[in-house]
Amino acid sequence: MLSVVVLISGSGSNLKALLEAADNPLNGIRVLAVGADNPASGLEHAELFNVPTFVVAPQNFENRQAWSDVLLENVKFYNPDLVVLAGFMRILPPSFVSALSPNLINTHPSLLPEFPGAHAVRDALAAGAKVTGVTVHVVDAGVDTGPRLEQRSVEVLAGDSEHDLHERIKAVERQLLISVVRDIAAGTLNLAQLDPASQNSLAQPSANNFH
Ligand code: GAR
Repeated sequence: MLSVVVLISGSGSNLKALLEAADNPLNGIRVLAVGADNPASGLEHAELFNVPTFVVAPQNFENRQAWSDVLLENVKFYNPDLVVLAGFMRILPPSFVSALSPNLINTHPSLLPEFPGAHAVRDALAAGAKVTGVTVHVVDAGVDTGPRLEQRSVEVLAGDSEHDLHERIKAVERQLLISVVRDIAAGTLNLAQLDPASQNSLAQPSANNFH
């Protein structure tokens, strides 16, 4: 059984999908706790599944390091096998990343290395991209730069708003995230054996996987 702590900042649709997947014992996933950097609406999903939650808000700390140290303490309290950033919208300092690496993964709404950062969907639209997508990757000390595990493409449609495109990406993202976590639980994807030098060697965005 793979034990997981999930960190979120927002509505938690990816979290909800993970909680539903964990409800099926065949998936071998157990969500131990859900943390957030604000009283995020997505925490309600955890409460519905009777999963404990914690909030560590940066404004209660003198600096980012002090905030992330307490966030890390909260995560470590549960001693998870894996930590999933599922819409967690803050950059974590190197001390946090190295304490959990390589068992710290993130889901991001673009085909990295394109459009890293907090506004990936908006940036893809502004750049006139015809195709964007989603990437699940291991977190390293950079912003959305860690080894990519899986990617899926999503077509940009004429007249797409940021909201419409993001919702279509999220529909694909939920499936991809669950599939990656399930593979880690099953041992078919071994994060400890990833070669940091072979950035993105595992990711193969599929061109015919438009949704
Ligand atoms: C997801 O699309 C996730 O990839 C994105 O925030 C959304 C959260 O949605 N994360 C980032 O942009 C991180 N750079 P959710 O709260 O409904 O799961």
